[in-house]
Amino acid sequence: MNDRAQPHTLTPEGLTPEGISSFWMPFTANRQFKARPRLVSRAEGMYYYTPEGRQILDATAGLWCVNAGHCRKPIVDAIAQTAGSLDFAPTFQMGHPLAFELSQRLVELAGKPFSQVFFTNSGSEAVDSALKIALAYHRANGQGQRTRLIGRERGYNGVGFGGISVGGIAANRKIFSGALLPSVDHLPHTHNLAKNAFSQGQPAWGADLADELERLVALHDASTIAAVIVEPVSGSTGVLVPPVGYLQRLREICTKHGILLIFDEVITGFGRIGEPFGWQRLGAVPDIFTTAKGINSGTVPMGAVFTREGIYDAFMQGPETAIEFFHGYTYSGHPLACAAALATLDVYRDEGLLTRAAELESYWQDGLHSLKGVRNVIDLRNLGLMGAIELQSRPGAVGARAFEAHVKAFFDENLMVRYTGDIIAFSPPLIITKAQIDEIFGRLRRVLETIE
Ligand SMILES: Cc1ncc(COP(=O)(O)O)c(C=O)c1O
Repeated sequence: MNDRAQPHTLTPEGLTPEGISSFWMPFTANRQFKARPRLVSRAEGMYYYTPEGRQILDATAGLWCVNAGHCRKPIVDAIAQTAGSLDFAPTFQMGHPLAFELSQRLVELAGKPFSQVFFTNSGSEAVDSALKIALAYHRANGQGQRTRLIGRERGYNGVGFGGISVGGIAANRKIFSGALLPSVDHLPHTHNLAKNAFSQGQPAWGADLADELERLVALHDASTIAAVIVEPVSGSTGVLVPPVGYLQRLREICTKHGILLIFDEVITGFGRIGEPFGWQRLGAVPDIFTTAKGINSGTVPMGAVFTREGIYDAFMQGPETAIEFFHGYTYSGHPLACAAALATLDVYRDEGLLTRAAELESYWQDGLHSLKGVRNVIDLRNLGLMGAIELQSRPGAVGARAFEAHVKAFFDENLMVRYTGDIIAFSPPLIITKAQIDEIFGRLRRVLETIE
């Protein structure tokens, strides 16, 4: 047996020091993690299991993605069956039925005005694809001078150069600041604790922040602006729910100036806030929206960009033998990802999961807001089955308190939560029960009560 054929270094006792060093972990404090790994090696339904067999309640749907719950049999079977019958097929200049079937199902789920879907392998690729579609669309319409992109502070739009350029999370940008896309500007974020702390659902204050777009239009001139991209609810930065009327105002201003409005629905897509897509819940219709994660419940890497009627048509000009859009990924519409997505959509439909967040929302909200008054809690906010607790930062040690809560939750309370800065974020699988909601907030309360 050569080295590579050794059995996994993952044993019930954990990982060997040699076995743990090779993996350069993404978005992780590698040294800290490797000193005391937080490992899961199996999953089912609402739970992960550690190598030594502890059952961990998943309050984050993995990474905002396992919306149908873990290892659901119909999805697992579809992937296994397809792996044995169509391992791969190109979608450049060839096709396979699953990709067409899935695109039709997705367009039906979105409903009008959406008519086409472009497949990618991740949310980051979906964002970069959406930005390229926007630029190319304007060029196809004779408005090639529209090259400016507007994102938003605190926005997370993945990690491609396009995504970090329009994104607004400083840590993700500053190292690469010399290499970001030119011609990008940002709207202000909508977070304001003085006005909106402890809001339940959409905060009342803040719609006027959308008027900042008019200021940017006045500064740059509408004729130079291709698109505005925002998350309907900012997720990764710590669940920032849009103020009432804010997205509608962005929509109006974009329409007025011929600017495409892109919603990044990589988190809000597929039932997270009570409708299949966030824009349906929030009542503002974008021109383009990006999805990934929940599209197949996180099982096989996949993303999809939805475009409204007219966008694809604008590209369909010139000789019929010519490629209309020079963009795509080897794995766009990969058969395994498509099969997983089709099976996932069946599960969502059969179990009513895409509207379940709306049914559970008030129970979820009450559970979250029961933590008001617990020490160090300075804000609680929620929409659908998303929620966040913001903690007072320790002087000179931003993030330390929430990190400690994350670690304690995992080791002492068998609970998986996410943290960013001093915010703890929740997005459980949509199959969660009321009893499990009680468990999440009960366990979290105990954690917070023990943290200085
Ligand atoms: C809104 C949003 N856009 C894009 C992405 C990037 O997705 P991925 O990590 O699949 O590239 C994420 C990931 O969390 C996201 O939340």
